[in-house]
Amino acid sequence: MFSSFADWTIQSLIAFDVPDPTTGRRGAPNLTGNHAPNKNAFTMETVFSGIQPSGELHLGNYLGAVRNWVALQDTHTCFFCIVDYHGITQPYQPDEVSRFVHEMAIALLACGLDPDRCTLFVQSAVPEHTELAWALASVTPHGELGRMTQFKDKAEHHPDNINAGLFMYPVLQAADILLYGATRVPVGEDQRQHLELAREIVRRFNARFGETFLEPQPLLSTTPRILGLDGQAKMSKSLGNTIGLAESDSTIWEKLRTAATDPARARRTDPGNPLVCNIYTLHRFFSDEERQEVVRTGCTTAGIGCIDCKKMLLEGVTRDLGAIRTRAQMLRQDPARVERVLADGAFRARIIARATMERVRHRMGIGRPFAAS
Ligand code: TYM
Repeated sequence: MFSSFADWTIQSLIAFDVPDPTTGRRGAPNLTGNHAPNKNAFTMETVFSGIQPSGELHLGNYLGAVRNWVALQDTHTCFFCIVDYHGITQPYQPDEVSRFVHEMAIALLACGLDPDRCTLFVQSAVPEHTELAWALASVTPHGELGRMTQFKDKAEHHPDNINAGLFMYPVLQAADILLYGATRVPVGEDQRQHLELAREIVRRFNARFGETFLEPQPLLSTTPRILGLDGQAKMSKSLGNTIGLAESDSTIWEKLRTAATDPARARRTDPGNPLVCNIYTLHRFFSDEERQEVVRTGCTTAGIGCIDCKKMLLEGVTRDLGAIRTRAQMLRQDPARVERVLADGAFRARIIARATMERVRHRMGIGRPFAAS
């Protein structure tokens, strides 16, 4: 008997005796990467998270989730996934998908994902994701899916495109996580409800078919909900209120200049409250403590105006995003390298995904005796 899911996974990997795709060596591949084995790989908790290839990595995704992903790489066994099958639930252009996936991979690597310390891959390259989603659908209550806020929002905003994929979105998300036995899921606040449902699915599956999955928990960043430039709704590409990581400094300044601040500061002489201002939230990421203090005092005493505050913010944004843009530019010049990272990631992910599906099918009494060889 294996003491944990991770234990079972490792044993499965050894049993598979697959050659490592880059070294050709046989035996259990290093789960955290091929080149820099982490000594704790066998005891670390597993993290999974995903992002849609929407064509833009924006400050909401970055500050709400991806920065956390980067930080977790040293302490967890990490799987990060570009979820193209989730992406197709909303209107999209088929001829743009592969470019958007490639660009998202570049953006994630430029932000600091390191293929030596995490597994980065594309969802559709591991068909077990959609397979497990179907299996999980059979224990997912229909009523719960109908209560999902994101489903209701999307249905309200796109009444002409309320497809079954949108409805099933959280089931596929649960499958993503459960395939790898992940217990920690770094996401923004908007995904909390989907994770509650994933836990419910685990409980129902385990109750019906025996202990198989672990319940995943969300890992929220210090600012799990970044507002858009309008200061009203969360930053989101579909709302057109984003700052993209790849945008030029001049474009970013144009957007910041007109971005909403504390409404109490109608005039330059009106004092404000930084805690209700989205610009101050961004200062907390891009400015050091000394500058944050200048902003706090200046805002509450009306010693500085909102434009001064935004200019100070721009300096930090330019510095940090400039570094990311430079790394992205270098990666763009070597598309084969990016594709290799994704192929290698899919290879490693698939070994685990296959083993999990074997186990799930066995538990559910599906397949084996009739399977084609
Ligand atoms: P996506 O692409 O919509 O968002 C990716 C991540 O960014 C976070 N996020 C935000 N965080 C704070 N403020 C914002 N304004 C903001 N906008 C986006 C999201 O919470 C998310 O963490 N359904 C997922 C994709 C997914 C997934 C998974 C996540 C598919 N399978 C399995 C975790 C585990 C999503 O929202 O993608």
